[in-house]
Amino acid sequence: MSNHDEVFARIESLLEDESDWVSAMSTVVCELHNSFEHFHWTGFYRTVAPNLLKIGPYQGGHGCLVIPFDKGICGAAATTGLTQDVPDVHARPEHIACSSTTLSEVVVPIKDSNGSVVAVLDLDSDIPAAFSSQDIMLTENVCKYLGEKYF
Ligand code: SME
Repeated sequence: MSNHDEVFARIESLLEDESDWVSAMSTVVCELHNSFEHFHWTGFYRTVAPNLLKIGPYQGGHGCLVIPFDKGICGAAATTGLTQDVPDVHARPEHIACSSTTLSEVVVPIKDSNGSVVAVLDLDSDIPAAFSSQDIMLTENVCKYLGEKYF
């Protein structure tokens, strides 16, 4: 099994008997953040009102508390429902720099059974183009699993 497959298997196993969404998010960020050295900020933003994201469980330095859907890479993921793969954050002027050291970022939406974005999972790295296609595939698989299990 690859490291990515092992991480996914651990997440499934850790959440097997867990029905609480906050406990699930906390467990996922811990597992992802501590499994990969290039994940420097790992966290969730939740849709708490129409077109508004608010910070959820995370690891790393302080994140922005509130992000409207029309701001930031997180907002772009929430608005489009599509993964945002940003190898160079300076190439995306709408990027919100919660930390000036962030150089690359991936944001993956989590959807309910109607396809509405209920949260996004944000990965930030201080390394340029840090995230591999395996990292993105793992994160997308985790977000699909979470959407189907909790919404
Ligand atoms: N960079 C994100 C904001 C969140 S943080 O970096 C923790 C964005 O542009 O949406």
